[in-house]
Amino acid sequence: MHLRIYLIGFMGSGKTTAGKRLARALDYAFTDLDSMIEERYHVTIPSLFEKYDEHAFRTLEHETLKDTLTLPRHVIATGGGTPCFFNNMELINGSGISVYLRLSPASLHQRLLNSKKKRPLIQRHPPAEVLDYIKRTLDERDPYYLRAHHIVKGEDLDIGALCRLLDKKEAT
Ligand code: S3P
Repeated sequence: MHLRIYLIGFMGSGKTTAGKRLARALDYAFTDLDSMIEERYHVTIPSLFEKYDEHAFRTLEHETLKDTLTLPRHVIATGGGTPCFFNNMELINGSGISVYLRLSPASLHQRLLNSKKKRPLIQRHPPAEVLDYIKRTLDERDPYYLRAHHIVKGEDLDIGALCRLLDKKEAT
């Protein structure tokens, strides 16, 4: 089996939930990149965006991603923007197996409306404009996400099927 599995995808794609389930199924540890940033710098993500700016957040995100590159037997849920800045996607693909949880803008919108997590990039848009923001940003980000080793449909994700997919990759 691979040492590290990175879950990537848009905000609300279920990376954290799927990551925890996948880690349990594989008997791996689970790490959430946003939580690592918050612990490492003693600051919440919303206050990072508020007190500084997105650029500052991306720098700390990049530095923290580097800390994950040698973690043994880990499933790592990245932030929605992680693959799209610096050489992050190269680092991810060079150090582990990446899985893109791909969902339609409508599904992402629905999930984000129901989510309790505070997301500064969503909150800065009036509710009526969130779907447009998702469509526009997903178009920009897809070229990065599509560089993942595996692309799976994020709606009704089957963790057992994902485990088998990851196993098969190892055998080839
Ligand atoms: C972001 C996604 C968030 C978090 C930050 C920025 C993004 O993580 O890293 O608010 O740029 O898409 P989730 O994808 O876990 O919401």
